[in-house]
Amino acid sequence: MTRTASPSILSHIVNRWSPYAFDGSAVPQEDLDVIFEAAGLAASAFNYQPWRFAYTHKGDANFEAFLSALVPFNQNWAKDAGVLVYVVSDEFMRSDKGNNPNHSHSFDAGAAWANAALQALSMGYRTHGMSGVDFAKAAELLNVPEGFRVEMAFVIGKQGDVSQLSEMLQKREVISDRKPVSEIAFAGPFA
Ligand SMILES: Cc1cc2nc3c(=O)[nH]c(=O)nc-3n(C[C@H](O)[C@H](O)[C@H](O)COP(=O)(O)O)c2cc1C
Repeated sequence: MTRTASPSILSHIVNRWSPYAFDGSAVPQEDLDVIFEAAGLAASAFNYQPWRFAYTHKGDANFEAFLSALVPFNQNWAKDAGVLVYVVSDEFMRSDKGNNPNHSHSFDAGAAWANAALQALSMGYRTHGMSGVDFAKAAELLNVPEGFRVEMAFVIGKQGDVSQLSEMLQKREVISDRKPVSEIAFAGPFA
């Protein structure tokens, strides 16, 4: 499945999409480290780098617990990915002089997730983001410190075969459309 887009758009941006079918294979730690390094190269306000990534490999001691904080719909397919990651952000810029609210903590963490998704794709992996999360449960399970926010979860893994999915998910294993540029970008203020 491929997307059509303007030919000058970077190929990884065009070819990234979010499958449901993952093949259950492991993601080597050295690959995961590269993906997180790429995530950390995102820009952020004052270069504060408010993102944190709490992860678990399929089969390790934390995997089932981390999986249990996803909504059941997401657990159903995310269980087959090699790695499950929670993106957490620091709501404050902390210094010796005190803690100031960071206006863009979520925004910056989103930029880091986007980098991770593109880097993973370039290494032959797929990613799928999730806000279908029991956020209170996730915060407790992850022992998230005060003043940090669980933003979303995502999985990383090798794409599986569509035939392994339920009929309902097979129907959703498609490339999605986008709003036209004219709807999302305009010269000047909102009309
Ligand atoms: C923050 C965020 C939350 C999402 N939550 C879910 C989710 O809970 N379950 C799910 O199946 N997909 C989820 N998605 C995937 C989106 O539905 C998907 O990215 C969107 O439909 C665009 O499709 P594409 O990623 O294949 O281009 C989420 C994506 C993002 C970025």
